[in-house]
Amino acid sequence: MAVQISPSILAADFARLADEAAAVPNADWLHVDVMDYHFVPNLTLGLPVVEALRKATETPLDCHLMISDPDRWAPQYAEAGAGSVTIHAEAAKAPVRTLREIRWLGARAGLALNPATPVEPYADLLGEIDMLLLMTVEPGFGGQKFLDVVLPKLRRARELVTRHGGNVWLQVDGGVDAGTIERCAEAGADVFVAGSAVYGASDPKAAIDALRAAAERAAS
Ligand code: DX5
Ligand code: ZN
Repeated sequence: MAVQISPSILAADFARLADEAAAVPNADWLHVDVMDYHFVPNLTLGLPVVEALRKATETPLDCHLMISDPDRWAPQYAEAGAGSVTIHAEAAKAPVRTLREIRWLGARAGLALNPATPVEPYADLLGEIDMLLLMTVEPGFGGQKFLDVVLPKLRRARELVTRHGGNVWLQVDGGVDAGTIERCAEAGADVFVAGSAVYGASDPKAAIDALRAAAERAAS
């Protein structure tokens, strides 16, 4: 299981996104939080910014769609060149169709679950996805406190993924920092989103190295 770090540009300076992407050359992905003010009470960015960012960096984009109509919009993020497109189970009306479309368009398909959404009902969809995202805060804002209550679900998700064959990445998002990443890695996560812990640090590149080392230590 290889540890991957996906810094969230939600905590970056939106007026200097190309520079902020360049500040983290050691990132495996750039996590792009798309919020529509309907699925979550916050508004961030959409397709035009993703298209521009795609041209401004070589780092693959990990688009996390916190929007109420992912069935309509997710394929367009794949077409815009996102390397990974994650939709929320709570919002998708036709998740299987949408996940298949994302893959057909050449991106990795992700399914996200809010803290209170159980993982078991989605066990049969593991063959349709490349990544399962377990939110470790209620989605909508950066800088929130990590929810330990999600850890038992993370362990159960790791068991389901292992039983399925182990190809599905397990991502955690929200409140992941030097103090919480080890718990996530021990519980089975392998892709770690970090916003404040990376872009709030004086040296974002060094912060990624430190997070990666901590996760690798805890996972081994
Ligand atoms: C929250 C977003 C997260 C956010 C994480 O809804 O999905 O990606 O940027 O930020 P931190 O790491 O500060 O909790
Ligand atoms: Zn996110």
